[in-house]
Amino acid sequence: MNHLLSIEDLDRAAIERIVTRAARFAEVSDREIKKVPALRGRMVLNLFYEASTRTRSSFELAAKRLSADVVNFAAGGSSVEKGESLKDTVLTLSAHKPDAIVLRTPWVGAAELVSRWSGAAIVNAGDGKHEHPTQALLDVYTLRERLGGIDEASIWIVGDVAHSRVARSNIIAFQRMGARVTVAGPPTLIPREIEALGCEVRYDLAELGSADIVYALRMQHERMNETWVPSLREYASRYQINARRLGPRQVLMHPGPVNRGVELSGEVVDSPQTLITEQVQAGVVVRMAVLYELLSGSGMLAGPGTRPQGASPGSAQGTSPGPAGARAPKSLPDGSGIAGAVIGGGRSV
Ligand code: NCD
Repeated sequence: MNHLLSIEDLDRAAIERIVTRAARFAEVSDREIKKVPALRGRMVLNLFYEASTRTRSSFELAAKRLSADVVNFAAGGSSVEKGESLKDTVLTLSAHKPDAIVLRTPWVGAAELVSRWSGAAIVNAGDGKHEHPTQALLDVYTLRERLGGIDEASIWIVGDVAHSRVARSNIIAFQRMGARVTVAGPPTLIPREIEALGCEVRYDLAELGSADIVYALRMQHERMNETWVPSLREYASRYQINARRLGPRQVLMHPGPVNRGVELSGEVVDSPQTLITEQVQAGVVVRMAVLYELLSGSGMLAGPGTRPQGASPGSAQGTSPGPAGARAPKSLPDGSGIAGAVIGGGRSV
């Protein structure tokens, strides 16, 4: 594959391949010098039109640990403020010939659009309420590290499902990895069509005790344009995950940033049952795996829903490789320590 636009493009085998590769990269993160030369000479452009702490820093770190050059572009302070469109911005920055563009925007479908305008490999780092595929991958990785796997596990995703790109990507990814998913929250925050993804729906937390994994979502104030809940206090009283609701054998996840005292009580955020820090750490190694697979020409992500590639400027069709795909995979020099692991995984990954 040339892009990572949607988790739907990844079947179970592809997800497993990425998290397995990420586990190998975890070894790099434990070294004193946290770097391998795998993507030396490649360029990764981080194009962020929305605030981000974890996603942006971890993509930057991931690219740097693979020795790629990184350019960070934030819409604030750029010509976007002078009215430059997404398309013109992408075309302008494409003049620098990035091999990958990591894109976060408030607009559904933007990553897919950009994949038609640029010859670079596009990674969707969140497009409005739609999808956040690398979050889903890092959550699968985190759960695999903690629990070994999630086959038959019951996962409850609780909170503001309606405004959450994480919920959508995670429902799909968790189910592909064999879990049963239930979404729970106030009726105003659960979209009606969500059951079509195969999950169950609950409007209260009476059966939360049946969950093995509780995945809380942030109340997404910035994406709400009317009053969705009577008050945050009332929301918290019915849906907050706190020590009273979280059973001792359950693990707790949250994509961050957390509204302490709203979707999670302070005590559970700090409890040993929460995997929030592990999720952040997983973000770096999973994004290393994604960038590596995209830019090493290993042709990943040929999942069931793989969509046709967009044409890149100057190339006839997406099947003809753009700047990213055109390059032969590099082998890592011996002594990098990870050469066997990564290259041993081979082109077919
Ligand atoms: C999420 C996002 O921005 O989609 N955060 C993240 O990427 N870690 C979820 C959120 O904003 O609540």
